[in-house]
Amino acid sequence: MRHGSRTALVTGGARGIGLEIGRQLADRGLRVLVGARRPEAAEEACRAIGPAAVPLSLDVTSAGSVTEAVREARELTGGIDVLVNNAGVSLDGDLRPPHVDEDILHTTLDTNFTGAWRVAQAVVPGMVEAGYGRVVNVTSSYGSLALMDSGRHPAYRISKTALNALTRMLAAELAGTGVLVNAADPGWTRSGMGGPSAPRGPREGADTPVWLATLPDGDGTTGGLFADRRPLPW
Ligand SMILES: NC(=O)c1ccc[n+]([C@@H]2O[C@H](COP(=O)([O-])OP(=O)(O)OC[C@H]3O[C@@H](n4cnc5c(N)ncnc54)[C@H](OP(=O)(O)O)[C@@H]3O)[C@@H](O)[C@H]2O)c1
Repeated sequence: MRHGSRTALVTGGARGIGLEIGRQLADRGLRVLVGARRPEAAEEACRAIGPAAVPLSLDVTSAGSVTEAVREARELTGGIDVLVNNAGVSLDGDLRPPHVDEDILHTTLDTNFTGAWRVAQAVVPGMVEAGYGRVVNVTSSYGSLALMDSGRHPAYRISKTALNALTRMLAAELAGTGVLVNAADPGWTRSGMGGPSAPRGPREGADTPVWLATLPDGDGTTGGLFADRRPLPW
């Protein structure tokens, strides 16, 4: 992979695991578009990452924002080679099914699932045209049906289950195009979402997403769900 010539878009890239993914991609020689809802947060993150980072206003829940961000990204860099769908929210605290707060359900799905779909829809055609792409959906073991043994965080879990399904379908549709699509579980990581007690730091959390974002040419890994670079059951 010619890292020097590649551009990555990281959604929710201004803090937490997303900021660390951007930092590690920049360390590997990629240009990094730091997607963030608040322009000043994107700019601050870019200063922290260094000259390879470029701020991009991006709210994944707004179709207009996604279209505009991808247009701007093309103008700035020529195209997006790597998409890391990292932006996410976890809002449902102690809610358990069948009790549901519909606003929480809709916002969670709109951000974690539809948001990733929206950005993929805008970015993937350019990858197919270029014959190269890496899409990494940052998911969670909470979304694994195989591991779904409680009703904790129901909206969050279902949003990640849906994201996992999108990963499989996109990978199947894009087989043979040069675009590899995988899902990465960062593990319980210290961040705004993970809180201060999580056992791993952002560096570890970012490792599997970055590995999948930089799969070398000739590597056929696609349609998989990974944690710590190892397959996780769907
Ligand atoms: N931390 C964990 O233990 C853990 C475990 C498994 C999976 N994950 C996943 O890892 C990813 C990153 O989480 P994190 O732990 O780094 O959480 P975090 O610190 O809360 O960061 C979440 C990021 O998503 C952004 N975001 C939220 N809504 C957005 C929207 N509508 N448009 C654009 N960006 C938006 C936030 O931006 P603002 O600053 O604008 O809010 C922030 O940059 C998420 O997908 C999460 O589900 C985390």
